[in-house]
Amino acid sequence: MEQENAYYIRKMKDQDIPQVLEIDLDAFPTQWPHPTSSSFHHELRNKLAHYIVCYRDNPDGRFITPPGGSFLTRAAGYVRYLFSHDRFFGPASSTDKYRLAGMAGIWMMVDEAHIVTIGTRKTERNRGLGEWLLISIIDMAVRLGARIVTLEVRISNTPAQQLYAKYGFTIAGTRRKYYSDNGEDAYIMSTGDIGSQDYQAKFQQMKAEHHQRWAHCCEIN
Ligand SMILES: CC(C)(COP(=O)(O)OP(=O)(O)OC[C@H]1O[C@@H](n2cnc3c(N)ncnc32)[C@H](O)[C@@H]1OP(=O)(O)O)[C@@H](O)C(=O)NCCC(=O)NCCS
Repeated sequence: MEQENAYYIRKMKDQDIPQVLEIDLDAFPTQWPHPTSSSFHHELRNKLAHYIVCYRDNPDGRFITPPGGSFLTRAAGYVRYLFSHDRFFGPASSTDKYRLAGMAGIWMMVDEAHIVTIGTRKTERNRGLGEWLLISIIDMAVRLGARIVTLEVRISNTPAQQLYAKYGFTIAGTRRKYYSDNGEDAYIMSTGDIGSQDYQAKFQQMKAEHHQRWAHCCEIN
């Protein structure tokens, strides 16, 4: 049962793609080239690729402001709603019925789950959603039979590195000039064995702590 002001995670669908492209631009503004609508359609049919989205339900097409915003932010949201197209004509398309806050994806390569993307909208940061996407990716990787999770991250990207370190990723190497936009190096980061008793004990504890801290992150039963 879904509740108001809650966020959910589910598999990415074709109709998510317009909002996924928005998030991609927002989260990776300097990246080039950017994925396109057709590259995501293709990815969703790639048997090795697995993508998820984090969303807020918006069944009436009503404008929703992020929880915890200042009084002015919330008031501005309400004024926008009063004068919005949606208020008179309903949501413009099915994608307006919910708002995506973030997305993530992996490629399964034998016993390795490689994170190809993970990002949240700037307006939705620091409310536990990036961490929840990572938790969901690790859970999915275990279900798919992965032994380790790996990724590349800009050496300047401290927020992402801290998030990964929290979940046991360590730096396994460096790829020189990996990013074509500015020639920046990438760290290769990797977990240990995610199926091991030791990792799972810590992971389940972190999951429980995340769940307690961020009550707006709801599992769908
Ligand atoms: C990295 C990213 C996904 C984090 O998303 P988020 O929704 O803001 O993250 P959360 O609120 O769940 O934070 C989880 C953890 O991330 C780390 N973190 C997030 N923002 C941080 C910041 N500004 N500085 C340092 N650490 C930060 C912390 O470890 C935090 O845990 P804590 O709250 O216990 O300190 C987000 O910043 C993003 O989309 N960045 C742009 C895209 C990107 O760089 N993706 C990674 C590519 S490798």
